[in-house]
Amino acid sequence: MSDERKVLLEVKNLSVEFNGFKAFTEVNMKIYDGELRVIIGPNGAGKTTFMDLVTGKTTPTSGKVIFDGVDITGKSTTEITRDYHIGRKFQGPNVFDNMTVKENIEIAMEGYNSMHRCVFFRKSKEFKEKVEEILKLIDLYDYRHFMASDLSHGQRQWLEIGMVVAQNPKLIILDEPTAGMTADETYKTGEMIKKLKGDHTLIVVEHDMDFVRQVAEYVTVLNYGRLLAEGTMEEIQNNEEVIAVYLKED
Ligand SMILES: Nc1ncnc2c1ncn2[C@@H]1O[C@H](COP(=O)(O)OP(=O)(O)O)[C@@H](O)[C@H]1O
Ligand SMILES: [Mg+2]
Repeated sequence: MSDERKVLLEVKNLSVEFNGFKAFTEVNMKIYDGELRVIIGPNGAGKTTFMDLVTGKTTPTSGKVIFDGVDITGKSTTEITRDYHIGRKFQGPNVFDNMTVKENIEIAMEGYNSMHRCVFFRKSKEFKEKVEEILKLIDLYDYRHFMASDLSHGQRQWLEIGMVVAQNPKLIILDEPTAGMTADETYKTGEMIKKLKGDHTLIVVEHDMDFVRQVAEYVTVLNYGRLLAEGTMEEIQNNEEVIAVYLKED
């Protein structure tokens, strides 16, 4: 991976301990602008902890988080979302069940910029086009007038992805986006995520190795809170250590 590319996110010697338990230890990682980074590793490897550290949900014991050249270590989740434009899709439900699919996207779009709360903006061509574009991206355009509560599990996950995209983050973080999805939904999610790359930088944690093979360019492997390996999908699949701790169970 070329070092001439702009680094969007860098973590330096990042560590966190919970009551003496080392959940994340001395990790150094660089995520480049516009890339799609996949993070894999066994259960308990520290993947979600990494996302918690980057988004301010967890404060590191030591080390730094640098985003777009700014040290954001120790900043709150609110600041990180609002001022630094890091968007994260959580596993819990974040959609408004009593609103339509389209209204959910509109609400998410209005949230990210006070200008967008202006009534006139919602009626503007630019706003309508962006909402339509997102509805198409998440394959819910034909469902735009459905109540969110009437969507399938997979479609709700897509709506949540759409709501994160609507906030126009520089970095999108997705923790196991295909959890509970059918094979067909998982494949569609992979195609969606590939379309987001470039316009956005993405960090995706996933277990499903077919999905990882479908989307991954560059993969980071965590194990026991440490960085075990980084490389292209091919390098990772041929890495003896990775095979020993992770891929053999696949
Ligand atoms: N807030 C916390 N308090 C105590 N232990 C935690 C906390 N968050 C994570 N852990 C522990 O850190 C380890 C890594 O967890 P996690 O990052 O969720 O793993 P992964 O997402 O890779 O499965 C686990 O052993 C987990 O129990
Ligand atoms: Mg996790």
